[in-house]
Amino acid sequence: MIRGKQKLFTGLQPSGALHIGNYFGVLKPLVDMYEGFDSRVMVADYHALTTLKDADKLHANIMDIVRDYVAVGLDPKKALIFKQSDVPQHTELTWIYNCVVTTAFLELAHAYKDKRARGLESNAGLFDYPVLMAADILLYDTDIVPVGQDQKQHVEYAREIATKFNTTWGEAFKEPKEKILEGVAIVPGTDGKKMSKSYGNTIPLFGSKDEIAKAVMSIITDSSGESPSNVYNIHRLFKSERELAPVYKANKGNYKASKEALIQDAEEFIAPMRKKRESITDADVREILHDGGEKAREIAEEKMTDVRRRVGVSI
Ligand code: ADP
Ligand code: TRP
Repeated sequence: MIRGKQKLFTGLQPSGALHIGNYFGVLKPLVDMYEGFDSRVMVADYHALTTLKDADKLHANIMDIVRDYVAVGLDPKKALIFKQSDVPQHTELTWIYNCVVTTAFLELAHAYKDKRARGLESNAGLFDYPVLMAADILLYDTDIVPVGQDQKQHVEYAREIATKFNTTWGEAFKEPKEKILEGVAIVPGTDGKKMSKSYGNTIPLFGSKDEIAKAVMSIITDSSGESPSNVYNIHRLFKSERELAPVYKANKGNYKASKEALIQDAEEFIAPMRKKRESITDADVREILHDGGEKAREIAEEKMTDVRRRVGVSI
């Protein structure tokens, strides 16, 4: 018997320029694995709306993230790339799930608790975030969900919600498993802490050579050692330890030379992806999303036809 490929589903919020932490943490490992699966990759624009209320910015971010996906190596011919808001079945299923999920359960979500602790407006969408994410995943009979460690609990929520639906209305949903992407674990930022856009310590993935150089030059170095560990820990993402050993030996005590070598290596690594990104027009992005949306709606509608019948709203 020929068995089909397992189904992979993942999403990224269109929340601004990617940094090399996003790339080495999740995008690269995703690109390395996606062809072995029947892959669907979603732009989570309705998730972004929970925090981003600037329409022009959201629009620009959506266009950008599709370019980013393709530039880093996701081929729209090999993966279904689509936008969440183009498939209304996601929000429709969210409502149905909302009617079996308790508020006490949602109050336990780490991401929600963290965002509230940081003083973000606690709108109902933010609270319901894990339910929409469960709908994203479960509509497509997903087997595996490659995500960063920070999203693990959300995939657990999707499993719980699948079980809740299945025990209430019968077996409609498959329970997905998370695949924690640990390309290089946590990528450090220019201050040695986790690289994150909220800490202002990023090296932009698709910045110009000057922007990358500026970020690298701002890496904080500890003046006591012979080699700057904050520089080295970023450098080893681009080159093997074996290749780096002679460089750091030759540059002992000269931090500026190590930073210049890092700028050079980062540039060589990023330049081809940047070039590819620049070649993708707005029309290309629209075509990718148009075609992807059409296919995604077809799959999602088939699932929803069954779901509507199960819950009793089909006549
Ligand atoms: P940020 O922390 O900059 O806001 P996001 O939360 O938008 O980044 O991250 C998107 C994805 O990239 C997440 O799945 C996260 O696990 C991954 N990621 C973000 N920063 C890093 C990092 N410094 N190292 C490894 N992975 C990261
Ligand atoms: N919440 C995810 C993040 O912020 C994005 C996301 C939305 C997602 N829906 C998804 C990830 C479904 C995996 C599967 O990174």
